Amino acid sequence: MRTAEENHKRIIVALDFAAEKEVLRLLDRIDPDNCRIKIGKELFTSCGPALVKKVGERGFDIFLDLKFHDIPNTVAGAVRAAALELGVWMLNVHASGGRAMLEAAAGALAGADCRRPHIIGVTVLTSLNDRDLSQLGVRDTSREQVLRLARLCHEAHLGGVVCSAGEVATLRKKLPRKFLLVTPGIRRPGDVRGDQKRVMGPVEAVAAGADYLVVGRPITRAENPRAALAEFVSAVSGNSPNPY
Ligand code: C5P
Repeated sequence: MRTAEENHKRIIVALDFAAEKEVLRLLDRIDPDNCRIKIGKELFTSCGPALVKKVGERGFDIFLDLKFHDIPNTVAGAVRAAALELGVWMLNVHASGGRAMLEAAAGALAGADCRRPHIIGVTVLTSLNDRDLSQLGVRDTSREQVLRLARLCHEAHLGGVVCSAGEVATLRKKLPRKFLLVTPGIRRPGDVRGDQKRVMGPVEAVAAGADYLVVGRPITRAENPRAALAEFVSAVSGNSPNPY
């Protein structure tokens, strides 16, 4: 069962920056009691594990968004490093790495004495459409492929998947309630969409069944990031959270 404080922290702020200075400036303006932080490939590649540790030392839970995809042994090692060396709260792997790789990721921390991160799967990248999939030899629609890969993640004992707002309602109906759905592409009505094509409001995304919302520019590029975060927090706090 989650604590009331955890239920409050359903917004994951995406730190899509290349420089540490910008990250620290933003972290000075937001509160680890109100949100968690996503660190992806750009920031990790430029600033490395040292910055992940620094963000963690400031009290933020970290979603390490490196989308591991490799042979099972290598992915299991990467999962152990993320948990044991960096103490992250959540990390992800590509579901298309296959069942053995997913099971290796899910089982990588068996017997380890550490905080267990949520290990979630990436199904079909939202940058791929049905034509792209057919070029890759996938005959099903992206929607069918997302559901197939999400089920595979569940069977392999992963904790959830990242999915677009448009997929949340379907996945919520087909998978057990405790399977986490983490959703980017979130915009309030007046927000600039940027490169996001299919967006959903925070209230609607949570009502459809999303557990965590990944929000980047509407908070990180806001004139007042603290106030923007507070708006997102209040938008989602009325909705019933995943009890697991
Ligand atoms: O700035 P914005 O709110 O669009 O940021 C969304 C974040 O979620 C970015 O870090 C982006 O890479 C990530 N993401 C996404 N769509 C996906 C997977 C991840 O927007 N399908």
